Amino acid sequence: MAPHVVVTRRLPDALRAELGARFDVTEHDGDLPLPREELLALVAGAEGILAMVSDRVDGELLDAAGPQLRVVANHGVGYDNVDVPEATRRGVLVSNTPDVLTDATAELTLAILLALVRRVAEGDRFLRTGEPWTWTPRWMLATGLSGRTLGIVGLGRIGAAVARLAVAFGMDVVHATRSPRPDAPYRQVPLDELLATVDVVSLHCPLTAETRHLIDADALRRMRRDAFLVNTTRGPVVDEAALVEALRAGEIAGAALDVFEREPEVHPGLRDLPNAVLTPHLGSGTTDTRHAMGMLCVTALEAVLVEDRCPSNAIDPSAFRPAAG
Ligand code: DGY
Repeated sequence: MAPHVVVTRRLPDALRAELGARFDVTEHDGDLPLPREELLALVAGAEGILAMVSDRVDGELLDAAGPQLRVVANHGVGYDNVDVPEATRRGVLVSNTPDVLTDATAELTLAILLALVRRVAEGDRFLRTGEPWTWTPRWMLATGLSGRTLGIVGLGRIGAAVARLAVAFGMDVVHATRSPRPDAPYRQVPLDELLATVDVVSLHCPLTAETRHLIDADALRRMRRDAFLVNTTRGPVVDEAALVEALRAGEIAGAALDVFEREPEVHPGLRDLPNAVLTPHLGSGTTDTRHAMGMLCVTALEAVLVEDRCPSNAIDPSAFRPAAG
């Protein structure tokens, strides 16, 4: 009998075929998350779950799945949606999708930063109004990146890839991280200094208890009035209400956001602001990247459920319990 795997969202056909060739699959055939009660019912009896970053995987869900559950493959590099210690305590291994989305997410970070500082999104919106216009020396003047300083908060894989692209655009890079990175070719500075000095603050730290609202009203006040904020990590790292106030008051020049505090909700105040570029969590959204992420989930499920081994993308390998053991 093929192991029973529950998939919490409709996947691209190629991935469905990969899963179908290995497992007995039950899939939620939709793009929107199931209501919680339906999700809990769906996972009952699963040996493996392929979960989305918008699914809360906690003790309640692990209980609902049952003691035969051995692996949760989280379809994302971030895993703030999963109670990993609780899963580990129960011998449920959790995997994520590192590396394969680094470049795609870094590209999107630069894309929305450029859209903001060069007023690309605003210009596009303007042309669609049909209002008359003509090129003049003062027309829609913007800020360039070359010669400016980028402050990276969290110099992990994605932060480092953003730094490399920023250097190619002629930017200087500094970074603030909790753990010292003496090998990094960019100057490390305290977060307060970074906030107070750089032209662009780009967030790449994971969402944890310490980073929730890391960028709050105080942090925003520390930033320069002509500085920009970019967030492609997790929405709750920024206090969105405070950000709306700061943008309205001109405390910072603008924000480019791919993630939102109460995703998929977007603070209504953000929608009215011309100095905010908003994209719907597109960071890893290329066809190739999403396939590679899906395949990392498939191979993690296969490692545990078919090959009885710990996959290399396990978040906490100590959770692995061999079935034979
Ligand atoms: C991740 O991988 O954590 C992303 O947010 C999903 O694209």
